[in-house]
Amino acid sequence: MLSVGIDIGGTKVAAGVVDEQGAILRRLKRPTPSHSPEAVENAIVESVAELSVGLDVGAVGIGAAGWVDTEQALVRFSPHLAWRNEPLRDRLAIRISVPVLVDNDANAAAWAEYRFGAGQGSRVMVCLTLGTGIGGALVINGRMFRGRYGMAGEFGHMTVVPDGHWCPCGNRGCWEQYASGNSLVRDAKALIAEGSPRAQGLLDHVAGRDPDQLIGPDVTAAAVDGDATAIELIADVGTWLGKGMAGLGAALDPDLFVIGGGVSAAGELLLGPARTAFARNLTGRGFRPLAEIEHARFGPDAGLIGAADLARHSIAEPPGPA
Ligand code: BGC
Ligand code: NA
Ligand code: ZN
Repeated sequence: MLSVGIDIGGTKVAAGVVDEQGAILRRLKRPTPSHSPEAVENAIVESVAELSVGLDVGAVGIGAAGWVDTEQALVRFSPHLAWRNEPLRDRLAIRISVPVLVDNDANAAAWAEYRFGAGQGSRVMVCLTLGTGIGGALVINGRMFRGRYGMAGEFGHMTVVPDGHWCPCGNRGCWEQYASGNSLVRDAKALIAEGSPRAQGLLDHVAGRDPDQLIGPDVTAAAVDGDATAIELIADVGTWLGKGMAGLGAALDPDLFVIGGGVSAAGELLLGPARTAFARNLTGRGFRPLAEIEHARFGPDAGLIGAADLARHSIAEPPGPA
C-alpha cells in the first residue's frame, strides 16, 4: 500500500508518496503557512490531493512540530506554529477520504530511521532533528516511547543555560536555543550586525539578498566552502549538541543517537564537534561504552517517510496509549 507522509516543520512542509520499503515516489515542498491552523490544514489537504493524482493512496501520516496527545488526535501546543489544542486529526479526516494519523515530527523521523535507516537493530535509540528547533524521540526495543500524555521526547526544551536565551516555549535557556538552525542563524546574524570582518564569508553567501534574510543553509554552504567563521558557528552548534547528548546519555543510556534535520546537512562539520563534546561530557566516561552517533540516513526526508509508514501501520494496528 502507498501512503502519503507530510512533515510540518517550523519553516517548511515536506510531503511525499512513500511505498512499503520507505522509498519516496513523488514529493513536494512548500513554506509552512505559520499564521493560522486553517492555512496549515489547507496546505496539507492540497498536498495530499496533488500527490495522490493517479495513485492509489491508502493512508496519510502527518508529522507535526508540536506536542501530540496520546490519542494522536490533538496537537496540544507548538512553540513554533499556531496550534493550541488543535483537533488536527479530526479536522483533516473531514477533508481527506483515507485514514489520517498524526504524530510528532521528530517521532516520525525517528521511526523512518529505525525501520529503514541508521537506526535498524538499535535497542535504545535517541533521534534528534535539528531544524527550526530540536526535535527528539526515543525508540526502545522497537517501540516509540511516548510518555504518559504523549509528549515525551521534548529534549529541545531541557534547560541547558539557566536564564539563557528566551525560547518560544516560554522558558529561557532551552537546548534548542543553542543547537538548532535558529540558533545558528541568530549567531550568524549577530556577527553580521556587529560589522565583524569575520562575517565577510557569510555576507558573500547571501550576495544580493538582505543579510537579514540569511538562512541556515547559507551558513552551511559557507562552511562547506571552507569559510572559517561558518565552520566555527557550526562547530559551536555541534559542541552544544554533544553536551546535551551527554545529558541524555546520563538519563537514558542509549546505544545510538541519530542526528537529522536541516542542520545535519553540515555533516561532519557538525557531528565531529558533537562527538568530541559528547565523549568529553558523558558521566562515567572511560568506564562505559559510548553510544554511536550517526547521521540520519534519510536526512531531511526522514520525517515524511516515517509519517507515511506510521500511517500505514496504524491501519493494521491502531495507535494505543503506550
Ligand atoms: C517542538 C517539538 C518539535 C521540534 C522540531 C520543538 O520546538 O517542541 O515538538 O518536534 O521543535 O520541530
Ligand atoms: Na518527539
Ligand atoms: Zn523551550
